[in-house]
Amino acid sequence: MFFTLVLLGSLYISTVNGWGATGHALVARIAQNTLTQEAQKFVQDHLPWYAKGDLSMLASWPDTILYPDTNPVEYLNWQWSKELHYVNTPDWACNYDRHRDCDWAGGQRCVDGSIQNYTNRLADISLDSTQRQEALRFLVHFIGDVHQPLHAGFTSDRGGNSIKGQFFGKATNLHSLWDTVMIERRISTDFQSDSSKYLAYLLNVMHTTYIRNISQWTKCPSNDESKYLACSTAWIDENSDLNCDHVYRNEQDQRMTISQQFKLSDIYFNTRMIFVEARLLQGGVRLGAVINKVVELQKHHHHPKKGHDQLCTGTMLLMAVILFQVVLAFLIVIYVAARRRNYRRPLAQMPGVFHSVKA
Ligand SMILES: *[C@@H]1O[C@H](CO)[C@@H](O)[C@H](O)[C@H]1NC(C)=O
Ligand SMILES: *[C@@H]1O[C@H](CO)[C@@H](O)[C@H](O)[C@H]1NC(C)=O
Repeated sequence: MFFTLVLLGSLYISTVNGWGATGHALVARIAQNTLTQEAQKFVQDHLPWYAKGDLSMLASWPDTILYPDTNPVEYLNWQWSKELHYVNTPDWACNYDRHRDCDWAGGQRCVDGSIQNYTNRLADISLDSTQRQEALRFLVHFIGDVHQPLHAGFTSDRGGNSIKGQFFGKATNLHSLWDTVMIERRISTDFQSDSSKYLAYLLNVMHTTYIRNISQWTKCPSNDESKYLACSTAWIDENSDLNCDHVYRNEQDQRMTISQQFKLSDIYFNTRMIFVEARLLQGGVRLGAVINKVVELQKHHHHPKKGHDQLCTGTMLLMAVILFQVVLAFLIVIYVAARRRNYRRPLAQMPGVFHSVKA
C-alpha cells in the first residue's frame, strides 16, 4: 500500500519539480548499474526494506515530501528543504560563482551546499541510521537535480519557470520542458512508452559513445571548490555553458525571455535531446561514483583491522612479558647453578692452590 502511494506520489509530482520522476528514476538506475557489490549492499542497508535496495524507488522522495497532495500531514515541516534543489545564477552571466551565487560555507541554502552536506552526512558514521538514510535519499535526488541545466538557471525567470510557450503545440514552460516534457516525448515516440527500453538504450550509449568520457566525469577538476567527495561546484558550472548556448535559445538561436512566448518543436527537440541524455548519464555515473567512494571510505574507517592491530599489540605485550619471565627464570637457574659450581671451584679448580700444592 505504502509502496503504491510512494509510486503514485512520484508520478503525480513529476510535472512540478526537478527532473520529473522519470528523469530521477533514470539517473538512479544508471547509478545502480555502476555500484560495486559492497555499495549495493550499503544501499540496501540504507533504504527502507520495501525498496529492496533499488535506489530509484525513493529518488523522487525529496519532491513528494514538499507538497500537500503527496504529504498532507507533514509537508509544512519540509519547506526548509525546498531551496536545496537548485541554485540561481545572474541572467546571462554564463558561469557559476559560489561566492556570488550561493555562499554555502556562510549558511546559504542551495543545491551546491546540499550535495556537500548530504555527501558528508552519508559518510559520517557518528550519525544514526535514520539520518544517513535521509542523506542517501537527498543525495540521489540532488545529484540528479544538479544535472538538469535549469536547476542552475537564471534568477529573473526562476530557472525557466516563468518562460512560457508551446512545445509541439502544447502549453508548457521552459523548466518543465527540461524536467519532463522532452524526456516523456522521447520515451513515447522512440521507445514505445517503455522507460526500461530507454534505460537500456542510455546504458548502451554510455558504454559506446561516452566510454572515453566516464573516467573524466568522475574526477574533480582542480578548480573545484567542493569539499568531500562530490564536485558539485564544477557540475553546476557545466550547466552555465549549456544554458547560454542551447537551453535558453530558440530554434532561430535567439535568446528566450519572459516577455516572449516560445514556439518549439522538431528542431529544438532533435538538437537538445543529446544534452538531456548526456546529463542523465553524467548524473548517474557521478552518483554511483560518490556512493562507491563513501563505501570505500567507510571500509577503512570501520575495518576490523584497527581492532585486530590492538589485539596483536596486546598479544605481543603478553608474549614479551612471558618471554621476559622465561628468560629471567632461566638466568636465575644459571645463576644458582653457577654459584653451586663456584662453591666447589676452590677445591677443585683454583689454579694457585694446585700450584702451591704441587710446588
Ligand atoms: C544538512 O542536513 C541537515 C539534515 O537534513 C539539515 O538540517 C541542514 O539544514 C543541512 N544543511 C545544509 C547547509 O543544507
Ligand atoms: C566527451 O569527450 C570528448 C573528447 O574529450 C569531448 O569533446 C566531449 O565534450 C565529451 N562529452 C561530454 C558530454 O563530456
